[in-house]
Amino acid sequence: MSTSLGTYLTRAGVPGDLSSVLLAVANSSVKVSDQLPFSAALTTNVNPSGERQTEIDIFANDEFAASLLATGSVAEVASEEMSESKKGSGKVHVAMDPLDGSSNISTNNPLGSIFGFYSGALPCSGLLLRGAAYLTYGPMLTLTFSTGAGVARFVAVRGADGSTEFTLLEDKIMIPLKGEVFGLGGPRNDWVEPVEHFVSSMEARGLKLRYGGTFVGDFNQVLGYGGIFGYPSLKKKPKGKLRILYEAAPMAYIMTQSGGYASDGHGDALLIEPTSLADTTPIYLGSPELVSELDSLIRAKDLGS
Ligand code: AHG
Ligand code: MN
Ligand code: MN
Repeated sequence: MSTSLGTYLTRAGVPGDLSSVLLAVANSSVKVSDQLPFSAALTTNVNPSGERQTEIDIFANDEFAASLLATGSVAEVASEEMSESKKGSGKVHVAMDPLDGSSNISTNNPLGSIFGFYSGALPCSGLLLRGAAYLTYGPMLTLTFSTGAGVARFVAVRGADGSTEFTLLEDKIMIPLKGEVFGLGGPRNDWVEPVEHFVSSMEARGLKLRYGGTFVGDFNQVLGYGGIFGYPSLKKKPKGKLRILYEAAPMAYIMTQSGGYASDGHGDALLIEPTSLADTTPIYLGSPELVSELDSLIRAKDLGS
């Protein structure tokens, strides 16, 4: 007997406001997924991070923002694709990356959507996360989330009548402690030295490179096989590329809930205090021993410098 998302949330005692935003996100993801074949084109618009927006970036942003605000449970919706948050009448402060991996649309590689559910006004640190979720548009449409009691994954199943239901695929997901795969973004010759040294040592230990260019897709590889994903500090971009509120903190929350560890290279990534909505950070997430080992190398380099 499969467990629907609604039944699971009720049985797990997830607070009503978080349940309603998770259900809204799940419902909207089906519309985003169905729209993908028609909205791969680039627009002339640019987002607050200075990146050109695709039609699906905008479609997903508008779809998720509308359905989240319609729940009446959200205080605001901040988005990677908007310069200011949209205000609501509830208590959940939502920060979202409505479409993660936009560059992967034209090559039909995995895509995602990432959501952080904060208890305080944005921007704020990951310590104020009440929950986090991400969607994966891959071979399957899945919703992976935590509200503080472990990580669960649901898969979208389309019925004969054309309706879609999210049913439980896996509960209490735990990252393998032994790392098998690694993936770090950005040009290798631009990585700060400790990162380069660390990756060479992982290759020497036989870990396998897995890098697909979408945070969500690469995160899934690490969560499933054990290892480390990072978008590192670069010599030319010391604060890396991934946005704290919309990408790094929500995924750090989920990684921590799965028994993993997430760091900005100097400690727990959930402690980072962003000062603006689009602030970025270096981020390293995965099996705790590997991430802690990289922290130590970065710290040693700082002390030596
Ligand atoms: P987004 O499409 O939301 O801007 O995110 C893209 C991010 C992230 O998904 C991925 O890890 C990273 O960009 C890939 O960067 P590179 O193209 O530099 O590898
Ligand atoms: Mn992204
Ligand atoms: Mn995005």
